[in-house]
Amino acid sequence: MLAAYAARQSADDPLSGLEVGERPDPQRRDGWTIVTLRTAGLNHHDVWSLRGVGLPADRLPMILGCDGAGVDEEGNEVIIHAVVASDGWRGDETLDPRRTLLSELYDGTLAEKVAVPRGNLVPKPQSLSWEHAACLSTAWLTAYRMLFTNAGVTPGATVLVQGAGGGVATALVQLGAAAGLRMWVTTRDEDKARKALEIGAESAFGSGERLPDRVDAVMETVGAATWSHSVNSLKPGGTIVISGATSGDAPSKAELTKIFFRQLRVVGSTMGSRTELERLSAFVAQHGIEPVVDSVLPLAQAREGFARMAQGDVFGKVVFTIS
Ligand SMILES: NC(=O)c1ccc[n+]([C@@H]2O[C@H](COP(=O)([O-])OP(=O)(O)OC[C@H]3O[C@@H](n4cnc5c(N)ncnc54)[C@H](OP(=O)(O)O)[C@@H]3O)[C@@H](O)[C@H]2O)c1
Repeated sequence: MLAAYAARQSADDPLSGLEVGERPDPQRRDGWTIVTLRTAGLNHHDVWSLRGVGLPADRLPMILGCDGAGVDEEGNEVIIHAVVASDGWRGDETLDPRRTLLSELYDGTLAEKVAVPRGNLVPKPQSLSWEHAACLSTAWLTAYRMLFTNAGVTPGATVLVQGAGGGVATALVQLGAAAGLRMWVTTRDEDKARKALEIGAESAFGSGERLPDRVDAVMETVGAATWSHSVNSLKPGGTIVISGATSGDAPSKAELTKIFFRQLRVVGSTMGSRTELERLSAFVAQHGIEPVVDSVLPLAQAREGFARMAQGDVFGKVVFTIS
C-alpha cells in the first residue's frame, strides 16, 4: 500500500528522511481492527519524528501520522483516536506512562490502511466532511483539552493564544469563539493576524506586543520564544496551559518569581482521551464548525505538505486525501 514514512532521521533536514512509497499492509492483532483511510492530517509531531524526537531510530521505517478518518471493517465511518494505551490500562489513557501515539510504536495514519485498537474508533458525525474529520484526532483534541479541561475558564473570559497559524492555535480560536470565550492571538505575521480575526479571534497582536489588558488564561505551544510574554500577560491567579514548545523548551528566563508572586498556575496538557475526542466531534458537528484547512493534497504529494509545515508556512491543518 502507499504510505508516507520515516526511513531515516535528521535533526537539521527532516525532509531528507521522508519517503512516500510502498509499505506492507498492516497486520491484524487481537482486539484491533483495520481502517481503510479516506483522509489523514499532518501534525508537527510527524516533523519531530523525522527530526529524531520521540521516535527511536531502531523503530524505523515507521509510517507517520496520528490523524485519520476512514471506514472500519464493518463499514462504519470512523475517526481514529491516536493515543494507544498499554494492555490492561484503565482510565484516562493520556496518563498511562506506557501509552504511545500512532506512529511512535505502531504504524500511523499516512497510509491507505492502518491497524488500531477497536476501542480507539469514534463514530464520524455525518455532517462532518472527510477533510474536516481528518483534522480532529491530534491538534484539535489537544486544543479541546487545553481549553475546556485544563484552562479553568468560563464563557466571557479572555484567552490568549500564542502563535496564530498552527493547527492547535487555529483550533483553539475556533473552539473558544464557539464557546463564548474572547480569543486573542499573537503572531509574527500580518496575514495570519487577519486570518485569525476571520475565524473568530476578537483581537490579534504582534508577537511579544504589550496587551491592552491582562488575560484569564494563555494557551502556549510556541515555548521559549513566547514564555515571558505569556507569564507577563496573565492576571493574578491566571493559568498558562502548555502543550508544546515549537521554538524550544529552554526560555531565557523561567519567570519563577512572577509565577509564585502572582499565584499563576502552569498546567501541562497532552492530547486528550477517547471520551474527549467523542465530545469534540459532537461539539464541532453541533456548532457547524469547519476546521481551518491550510491545504488538501493527495497522499502521493505528502512531501509538499511536510515542507509547508517544516517552514512554518501553514495556517490551519494540512490534509491528505487517500481513497
Ligand atoms: N502535547 C500534545 O499533545 C501536542 C499536540 C499537538 C501539538 N503539539 C505541539 O504543539 C506545537 C504546535 O503545533 P502545531 O502543529 O499546532 O503548530 P506549529 O506548526 O508548530 O506552529 C505553531 C505556531 O508557532 C508559532 N511560532 C513558531 N516559531 C515561533 C517563534 N520562534 N516565535 C514566535 N512564534 C513562533 C507560529 O506562529 P506565527 O507564525 O503566527 O507567529 C506558528 O503558527 C508543536 O510543538 C507540537 O509538537 C503538542
